[in-house]
Amino acid sequence: MNKVSVKAENGSYDILIENGLLSRLSDYMQAYSGRRALVVTDDNVAPLYLDTVLRQLSQVGVGVFYSVIPAGETSKSVETLTSLFPELTRAGVRRGDLIVALGGGVVGDLAGFLASIWLRGVDFIQIPTTLLSQVDSSVGGKTAVDIPEGKNLVGSFYQPKAVFIDTAVLRTLPLREISAGMAEIIKYGCIFDAQLFEYLEKIGSPDALTDNFERIIARSCEIKADYVLRDPYDRGERMELNLGHTLGHAVETVMGFGVLLHGEAVAIGISAAARWSERILSLSAEDAKRIDALLTAFGLDISLPECDKGALLSAMCLDKKAETGGIRFVLLERIGKARVVRLEPEEMLEAAYER
Ligand SMILES: NC(=O)c1ccc[n+]([C@@H]2O[C@H](COP(=O)([O-])OP(=O)(O)OC[C@H]3O[C@@H](n4cnc5c(N)ncnc54)[C@H](O)[C@@H]3O)[C@@H](O)[C@H]2O)c1
Ligand SMILES: [Zn+2]
Repeated sequence: MNKVSVKAENGSYDILIENGLLSRLSDYMQAYSGRRALVVTDDNVAPLYLDTVLRQLSQVGVGVFYSVIPAGETSKSVETLTSLFPELTRAGVRRGDLIVALGGGVVGDLAGFLASIWLRGVDFIQIPTTLLSQVDSSVGGKTAVDIPEGKNLVGSFYQPKAVFIDTAVLRTLPLREISAGMAEIIKYGCIFDAQLFEYLEKIGSPDALTDNFERIIARSCEIKADYVLRDPYDRGERMELNLGHTLGHAVETVMGFGVLLHGEAVAIGISAAARWSERILSLSAEDAKRIDALLTAFGLDISLPECDKGALLSAMCLDKKAETGGIRFVLLERIGKARVVRLEPEEMLEAAYER
């Protein structure tokens, strides 16, 4: 069992990480005995893990109710959100009761936002089931839904009471989703932790991950939690977590949402950032190569897909609201040390194309 304590000014909580944790959930839920819980999950995760969670909660006397939403980003919507209001009324969820998110980042972001506004806030528990949600979206207290005008435009900062990570659930996660999650883990190594980076190099391939998941997930949560602690409302220092994201988001947008997974687009962005860091900062050519090699080893394609350069450029500017004198990009001084640099987006794009 690994435990990561997150101490944010807007709420402190523990992240527990263990192989097989779901079937021991009752050990950690006794405090909720006599309360009601609405478990929100999606229709991929429900047949796999919902029964176990409901059984574990019932065992300690939690009154359980559940809602299953369709899997996929389109469910992170105002419509799905409001469809859950009558479910909460039906379940009789009051102050002191709780909402549990069982699923990936979509379920986590949606259920977290719901918990933050229902009765002006009820307790929220996260059980993230994708690698991305285990190392990224379940840490940091950001919740949101998408609107037609853009992703994550309606949301709140709301910390969970606890996060339960069972690494065994990753066995059913498609390999493509594992790779996408690895992009964010490799990002943590690049910006903050050369040791983690080296450790990932030793693991070397997705096949060898299983025995190492607990350790690398715990370290990733620690790193993200550390950034969150320094900058709970995302006003500046968290910026380093955006390595690969400005170009990544632009690629995601221009390709059309759903073509590339978020992590796949971020991998392209990280590789471009490494190339640019080599040119204008002190990152060595060897380190830039190691970054590309590590991304590739975990199944990530780092080449920029064919897409309209102009569209990519405007998406990049839009993403960061095009400040004058360029956009702030996260680059690397070396593996393990990030630096924020103001750059013209055109130059950054060139680096992405010159390979
Ligand atoms: N709040 C934050 O700080 C933050 C950070 C990063 C990303 N996000 C958000 O997270 C979302 C993406 O999250 P995601 O990548 O987890 O996507 P997701 O929630 O859509 O899950 C990906 C797919 O995997 C399936 N799945 C989940 N767990 C499974 C399991 N154990 N076995 C088999 N299938 C499983 C899901 O049903 C879905 O089809 C985006 O909406 C993004 O904006 C939020
Ligand atoms: Zn990301």
